[in-house]
Amino acid sequence: IIDDLKSENGHLMIGGVDSVELAKKYGTPLYVFDISQVRSQIRKFKSAFEKNNLKYQISYASKAFAVKAIYQVMKQEDVHIDVVSGGELYTALSAGFPSEKISFHGNNKSYDELLMAVKEHVGVIMLDNFHEIDLLSQILKQEKTTIKVMLRLTPGISAHTHKYDQTGQTDSKFGFDVESGQANEAMKLVLDDENMELLGIHAHIGSQIFGTQGFVMLAKKMMEIAKKFQTEFNYWPEVINLGGGFGISYNEDDDPITADEFIRQIADELKKTSNDIPEIWIEPGRSIVGPAGYTLYTVGSRKDIPNLTSYLSVDGGMGDNIRPALYQAKYEAVIANKMDQPNEQTVHVAGKYCESGDILIDQQQLPKTKPGDILAMLDTGAYGYSMAMNYNRNPRPAVVFVEDGQDKLVVKRETYQDLTSLDLDY
Ligand code: LLP
Repeated sequence: IIDDLKSENGHLMIGGVDSVELAKKYGTPLYVFDISQVRSQIRKFKSAFEKNNLKYQISYASKAFAVKAIYQVMKQEDVHIDVVSGGELYTALSAGFPSEKISFHGNNKSYDELLMAVKEHVGVIMLDNFHEIDLLSQILKQEKTTIKVMLRLTPGISAHTHKYDQTGQTDSKFGFDVESGQANEAMKLVLDDENMELLGIHAHIGSQIFGTQGFVMLAKKMMEIAKKFQTEFNYWPEVINLGGGFGISYNEDDDPITADEFIRQIADELKKTSNDIPEIWIEPGRSIVGPAGYTLYTVGSRKDIPNLTSYLSVDGGMGDNIRPALYQAKYEAVIANKMDQPNEQTVHVAGKYCESGDILIDQQQLPKTKPGDILAMLDTGAYGYSMAMNYNRNPRPAVVFVEDGQDKLVVKRETYQDLTSLDLDY
């Protein structure tokens, strides 16, 4: 794949644009998104559903990357989005994203957030817990309005992924537990509430999942739950939402499944259990934006420890990508201005933050480097910018979209003035 991204002068090309020129024009660190890859992944999901004749909806889980411009791409691609906070909701609405295509998630939405969602008439509120049913019920009465809701269930399925990325097991902070009867109790409350229209049921088993097995089990389980609710409440869901979590390849050890493959397997499972399959919604985040994102850094200092190892430092790190430090996530990098040169060294790619744990890549083979070279980390589009922070008072990088050989700045680089703009004197 990397070879396809090489230009004649040995530079990394992203979306038809020379990445070294981007680094010069906008500075580093810089997030670059190849928007044609985002569109193509969405279209793959859509065509997979269409091939299997399922009614469906793709809802982009925007926590993976939530800026105005990406919401606008989602609007152009005619998909739904998920938001998990008032801030994401506000960003989406201010980008002109239609509120009826927004699902509002979260395990502790506040009164103000729920009120905002109701006033903006979001498409569906994903109910997570009893407190929230209570709050929403009050708000709907007071506002004299109705809203669609779905119940988030904890189906008792453990996905094989990092502990922090598991959400479907019974011991989870999210959703109504099915086993203990919480889900039944929630069903009663919602069906009895004349202002809530129950659109269906939802579950999400985790993130960065590779096999199809967990999703197939989930599809089966959700159909069983639907049948149980049909018997007990004479209720059949219009929608079953299977969440997100489809893994991507960060390095050669990762072996993700294609959209085609897991949608086909899910469809086969669903067709086994019923002739009346509800509309199937999925909520991919990482798989839509992850592979489309690159982070460009400038190589700076270097420390060689004789007979031991070398640290090659770049001008960013855990502030723009917390994932290696937080989840031991593995990435790969290339030297964007030396794509035609052979690898001649193995280094730790270190960040500039004052933490020993600020290592972006543990072992990376690279061509010979010198200060000023541009290092490009690959597949950084998901949970990079969205989890970025200002530790050590480093400003957050800019974001550029590229498509068809054109580049467009979509988030400005933070300035030192921005950093102090909320500080007050004492
Ligand atoms: N739906 C729900 C209800 C979720 O909680 C999530 C992710 C998604 C969909 C999207 O999952 P995806 O397709 O992106 O895997 N910061 C972590 C990932 C946290 C995921 C949280 N929920 C990381 O960087 O690995």
